[in-house]
Amino acid sequence: MSKPSVYVTRMIPADCIAALREHFDVDVNPDDRALTHEDLKQQVRGRDAVISLLTDRIDGEVLDAAGRQCKIVANYAVGFNNFDIDAATARNVILTNTPGVLDDATATLTFTLLLATARRIGESERFVRQGEWQGWAPMAFVGLDVDRRTLGIAGLGRIGKNVARKAAGFDMKIIYSDVRRDLDFEASFNAVYVDKPTLLAQSDFLTLHVPLLPETKHYIGAAELRQMKKTAVLINASRGPVVDEAALVEALREKIIWGAGLDVFEEEPALAPGLAALDNVVIVPHIASATTETRLKMGEIAVRNIVNVLAGKAPDTCVNPEVLRQISRDF
Ligand SMILES: NC(=O)c1ccc[n+]([C@@H]2O[C@H](COP(=O)([O-])OP(=O)(O)OC[C@H]3O[C@@H](n4cnc5c(N)ncnc54)[C@H](O)[C@@H]3O)[C@@H](O)[C@H]2O)c1
Repeated sequence: MSKPSVYVTRMIPADCIAALREHFDVDVNPDDRALTHEDLKQQVRGRDAVISLLTDRIDGEVLDAAGRQCKIVANYAVGFNNFDIDAATARNVILTNTPGVLDDATATLTFTLLLATARRIGESERFVRQGEWQGWAPMAFVGLDVDRRTLGIAGLGRIGKNVARKAAGFDMKIIYSDVRRDLDFEASFNAVYVDKPTLLAQSDFLTLHVPLLPETKHYIGAAELRQMKKTAVLINASRGPVVDEAALVEALREKIIWGAGLDVFEEEPALAPGLAALDNVVIVPHIASATTETRLKMGEIAVRNIVNVLAGKAPDTCVNPEVLRQISRDF
């Protein structure tokens, strides 16, 4: 009997591909670039399972192109805004993500952006490399203090809490906003639950860790930026469309806020016009989870989910659990 067929939409750590090949026939996109939607539809045809990336839109068209035998699409990411959940659920396709294993790496990159923005690291590094440095100067690259400042966290989930743990080393005061309160967290971190206007008004550093949902698109726009302190820094390592990037460019240019640190962008890899020309923003190319160990662990979860589902078992991390209930009812 032939082995089930698995497609991986872009190269992930080789150990993960080797682990898949122990069980399945595996094809991997050989090009180091995201597939177009048309190519994706071609490549998933007849597959029993797919490992997808956050750049792959997994919608009804892709699932229909895959065919009815396709049981699972395993995202190589914790965020899953690239999934059309209703389309997959209607077709009994299990969708999974990789929660938990990337919290440390993502929170570390978040804090790196916070520190780099406060201390003007990108700007001063460019200055030195361009040969402009003439020696120590009392007023050069004067930045912001971080210790004991107020850190506002929008979306206190796994990553938001991890950022709070890192902020404890700087004695930062934590305020947060979320659709849920976490009283244990408040007690452990002396944190204060606030509404969004208070979060905007009081944060010295505001960091975003909400998922991208219709309700969180442009969570930060022109109106919100105007409610922030003039000395505030905005950090976004969640998803690009959570911030209205054109409004942010305007706010940074007009010094409505002091600075921003960004890992994610609305139309990746394009940047909003004018963003790259600004000195008060630190820009990195969506690398929050990019450490060797983290990427391996993300791959291990995706592989384990596929092995389990194709063996008729439940996956560890399902984002549309209704399908599991539907499938168990059908048997
Ligand atoms: N930059 C990167 O490479 C990278 C890496 C990992 C995760 N992410 C992003 O970070 C997000 C958060 O990841 P996580 O594992 O912490 O998720 P999580 O589900 O543990 O936490 C999200 C939190 O946001 C809250 N929330 C949801 N809707 C909200 C709203 N409208 N207003 C306020 N709070 C709201 C939830 O209640 C939850 O506490 C992911 O969805 C993903 O998009 C980005």
